[in-house]
Amino acid sequence: MLEATRVRNLPPYLFARIERLIAEKKEAGVDVISLGIGDPDTPTPKHIIEELYLAAQNPENHQYPSSVGMLSYRQAVAAWYARRFGVQLDPKTEVVSLLGSKEGIAHISWCYVDPGDLVLVPDPGYPVYEGGTILAGGAAYKMPLKPENGFLPDLDSIPEEVARKAKLMFINYPNNPTGAVADLGFFEKVVHFAKKYEILVCHDAAYSEITFDGYIAPSFLEVKGAKDVGIEFHSLSKTYNMTGWRIGWAVGNAKAIDALGRLKSNIDSGVFQAIQYAGIKALEGPQDVVKELCDLYAQRRDLVIETLNKLGWNLSKPKGTFYIWAPVPKGFTSASFAEYLIEKAGVVITPGNGYGTNGEGYFRISLTIPTSRLKEALQRIEQHLGKVEF
Ligand SMILES: Cc1ncc(COP(=O)(O)O)c(C=O)c1O
Repeated sequence: MLEATRVRNLPPYLFARIERLIAEKKEAGVDVISLGIGDPDTPTPKHIIEELYLAAQNPENHQYPSSVGMLSYRQAVAAWYARRFGVQLDPKTEVVSLLGSKEGIAHISWCYVDPGDLVLVPDPGYPVYEGGTILAGGAAYKMPLKPENGFLPDLDSIPEEVARKAKLMFINYPNNPTGAVADLGFFEKVVHFAKKYEILVCHDAAYSEITFDGYIAPSFLEVKGAKDVGIEFHSLSKTYNMTGWRIGWAVGNAKAIDALGRLKSNIDSGVFQAIQYAGIKALEGPQDVVKELCDLYAQRRDLVIETLNKLGWNLSKPKGTFYIWAPVPKGFTSASFAEYLIEKAGVVITPGNGYGTNGEGYFRISLTIPTSRLKEALQRIEQHLGKVEF
């Protein structure tokens, strides 16, 4: 049976290819160290697990939840936004729960994109922005993220006819994969652009709490007028080591939040209520766990940067995310460098071209691996690669 065009048009999921490569090496008996997928290695804080345990025992939580989330969960999200960013949200109309931010990111295109419409997508970028666009029948217009622009898209270089055809724009800061951050001045430009061309801005703020060296990431919604043109995606995954729990939210423009909620009510039945209670606990409980997590990633970041710089790189330390984005040495492509490291050192890194054509010539290292294993991976890289040139 022939698959539908929308599924045939999907690019292969980046990590599926990497997982196959890892499996082959493991079968051959190699002790593979993966610096590939970004998935926190330390556990969810205890007080959050305890809340789940309590809530899971209440039969009221065993029934279908609401697709848009319990009001108490949405209130907790709104209160967190007020505390953290000074952004006021109406929990009834401007907050919707998600089965992880990935779910909302993939579904928002279904709300706004008709076949033939364009979506502005960062390149390199999180692959789901394009995947969701393709599933809705749209096409992605890639906004290159270049080092000379601080890995921010150059809005002035987007052709007028493209901007007029675009329905959505995805942006993501702190940024996966580049680790770049954006300030309110950039978000102001985005609001202006979106108003001019009637585009819904979808800011993915999944890493807003994973920041270092005193840097505090702003919310897109802090900018005046942002709520008129945009929503922000967020989740508990990275902040509280809850990737497996599948809980997040979208906030902002009430019409877009309503559209996403209506779409979701036709697809899923919301997040298990016991997980929503645990989510409330995460947002309202002690926040020192987040600081400890960021300190841990900062230590690992420094290890990676110091090792690579010793070998000939000239990298500065990213202010956010748990990724290091670096150019491949002279003589390599992204793919050949990834293959070289897995063949020679048994170390998996992510080839940058998996995040878009502008990722070619780069690779990404994830810091979500126990420090001892990270040290071993770095030793192996040093041993098998030696000094490099660019
Ligand atoms: C940029 C970005 N956005 C969103 C997500 C999805 O996170 P979740 O669905 O767990 O909230 C990820 C996960 O890796 C990500 O890197």
